[in-house]
Amino acid sequence: MDLKDKTFVVTGGGSGLGRQLTIELVKVGAKVAAIDINEDGLVQTVKLAGELSSMIYPIVCNITDKEAVNALPERVLRRSGHINCLINNAGIIQPFVNVEEMDDALINRIFAINFFGTLYMVRAFLPHMRKENESCLVNVSSLGGFVPVSGQTIYGASKAAVKQLTDGLRAELDGTSVHVMSVIPGAMATQIRENSGLGAIHVEEQKTNKVLDPMVAAHLIVEGIKKKEKELYIGADSRLMHNLFRFIPLRAAKWLNDSIRRQHANSLVRVGSYALPPLSFLSRKGLGGRLPLHLVSRRVGIAV
Ligand SMILES: NC(=O)c1ccc[n+]([C@@H]2O[C@H](COP(=O)([O-])OP(=O)(O)OC[C@H]3O[C@@H](n4cnc5c(N)ncnc54)[C@H](O)[C@@H]3O)[C@@H](O)[C@H]2O)c1
Repeated sequence: MDLKDKTFVVTGGGSGLGRQLTIELVKVGAKVAAIDINEDGLVQTVKLAGELSSMIYPIVCNITDKEAVNALPERVLRRSGHINCLINNAGIIQPFVNVEEMDDALINRIFAINFFGTLYMVRAFLPHMRKENESCLVNVSSLGGFVPVSGQTIYGASKAAVKQLTDGLRAELDGTSVHVMSVIPGAMATQIRENSGLGAIHVEEQKTNKVLDPMVAAHLIVEGIKKKEKELYIGADSRLMHNLFRFIPLRAAKWLNDSIRRQHANSLVRVGSYALPPLSFLSRKGLGGRLPLHLVSRRVGIAV
C-alpha cells in the first residue's frame, strides 16, 4: 500500500506508540488526524514533527464518548477530504491486582477505553473507509491479550477482545477495499503506567532494560501496513511467546505465572497503593531458565 497522501486517523497520538506512529506516518508523506484525550500530549507530538507538523491534525477527544467519536469523521473529512486508514492504538493497563480485588468501575473503565473505544471508532469510521479504493484498519492488541498474566487479567481480556474483534472484521471485510491488521506488541518503553494512573517508571530506565523502543515499533507497523500484513507480533518477547503458546499453551502459561509470582514476591515496586512487578519479570533469570528464553539475546520485559 502506498501511504503517500493517504489520510490516517491514529488514536492515542499524544504519547508513546501513537505519537511515534503519527511522526513515522507524516515522514512517509501521509496526513494524520491524531486523536487523544490529553491535549498537552498532542501539542508535544505536533512539535516533535518539526517541519512536517502541518501534516498533523490534532483532535482532543475521549474515545469512550460515543457521540464525540461519531462526530470525528466529519471533522477529518472537512480537513482532508478522505479517510483511508484508522489505527486504534489508545489504551490503558490495569493496576497489578487480581480480578477479585478490582472494583466494577475500574473494570468498566478498562473495557470502555480498550474495547468499546476501539469499537466506537471502527463503527464511526468504517463507512467512510469503505468508500476509498485502498484503506486499512489497524487495531493494537497486546502480548497480554493472548498470554494469561496473573494480575493483568482484565487488561488481557480487553486486549483479547480487541484481537477477536479485529479477526472478525477481517472476515467480514474480506473482498472489500479495507485491509485489516492486528498488532500484538510486547513490552515497550512508553508512559503507559503513568497515563493509566499507576505512577511513573522512567522511560530511560525501561530503555536500559532493553524494552522495545516505540519508535522501532512504529517503524515496523508502518512497514507492515505497506506490505499489507495481517498480524504483526512486535518485539522479541511477543514473537517468542506467540511461538511457545502455539505448541504448549498450558505449560507455558504455568511457567510464566509461577515465575511472575516468584519475582513478585522478591521485588515488588510500590507505586501509590499498587504493587507492580519489575518490568523485567520475563527475563531469563525470572523464568529460571526453564523456558528457552536464552533464544532472546537480551533481557526483555513486559508491561503486558
Ligand atoms: N507499553 C507497552 O508495554 C505495551 C505493550 C503491549 C501493548 N501496548 C498497547 O499499545 C497501545 C499504546 O500504548 P502506549 O504504551 O503507547 O501507551 P501511552 O500511555 O504512552 O499512550 C496511550 C495514549 O492513549 C491515550 N488515551 C488513553 N485513554 C484515552 C481515551 N479515553 N481517549 C483518547 N485517548 C486516550 C493516552 O492519553 C495516551 O496518550 C495501547 O493500546 C497498549 O495497550 C502497550
